[in-house]
Amino acid sequence: MARAYRLRGRADDAEGALGAALWDAGCEGVQIDDGDLVAVFASERDGMPPGGAWEDVDARDHVAAYLEGLRPVRVGRLVVAPSHRLVCLREGQTVLWLDPGMAFGTGHHETTRLALAALAAPARDLRGLRVLDVGAGSGVLAIAADRLGAAEARGIDVDPESVPIARANADRNRSRARFELGEFGADSAPVGSVDLLLANLYAELHVRFLGAYARLLAPGGRALLTGIVAGREVLVREAVRAPLRLEGEQREGEWWLLELAREPGPAPAAEVEAAVPVAAGADR
Ligand SMILES: C[S@@+](CC[C@H](N)C(=O)[O-])C[C@H]1O[C@@H](n2cnc3c(N)ncnc32)[C@H](O)[C@@H]1O
Repeated sequence: MARAYRLRGRADDAEGALGAALWDAGCEGVQIDDGDLVAVFASERDGMPPGGAWEDVDARDHVAAYLEGLRPVRVGRLVVAPSHRLVCLREGQTVLWLDPGMAFGTGHHETTRLALAALAAPARDLRGLRVLDVGAGSGVLAIAADRLGAAEARGIDVDPESVPIARANADRNRSRARFELGEFGADSAPVGSVDLLLANLYAELHVRFLGAYARLLAPGGRALLTGIVAGREVLVREAVRAPLRLEGEQREGEWWLLELAREPGPAPAAEVEAAVPVAAGADR
């Protein structure tokens, strides 16, 4: 049995002055429970922030959570965790409280981790950028972009079940990221209005969408394309053409992330969807 200090607070209070006071007092982890912060300690401490109360907490619950594989995922300075789980943040880390429900995007999959790592890379500065997340799922990437300083983060997903989950995750994190239901295309945003495009899809879909990516990206913009299984990255590499160019590649296990840069110059003309040839005799 451990002791826990329960007080009113929300997820991002755990990162602010209140969180710092709890960590300074020797807290081993903070749980979010129905509008409360529950800070777990080996034993009671003096000098706690006012307004809270001590209670018993079953330390074995946390071990069970660990054994069930529900540990938070740490990617650089980002920590992705289910909202009711225990999280220990180190200085400079940012937590994303994500309840993925039926949507894809817990942060455990290599493809999501590749994108989060690319977003949180020390050399990348998201401040002032307009970000579009294509295939937002749980909203994890757009919410991460918002937390990392993007001026605007939008997500689009064709799956009607994912969008409310992404919106709930944005609320849970007090994120300004916005999500909409829709199938991605060249009209998903005004031409040249995206500085950073994120897409965790698959190689063939990226190839199909390259023209739309090029139209939506502003000159100098970047696209982080993941969800590309090893062996298929060549399809995307070979399909990239001006005004896009391959800027970098990352691999984790069987998965690739390709980073594209949008070169200066006017947006390419809108593509006309190629007619599917009908095989001779097919209509007879
Ligand atoms: C692999 S999940 C990625 C989720 C999240 N972005 C992540 O990185 O963990 C792919 C998502 O793309 C969505 N999707 C697939 N095709 C799409 C399309 N044409 N337009 C919009 N969303 C699409 C799916 O519904 C799914 O939620």
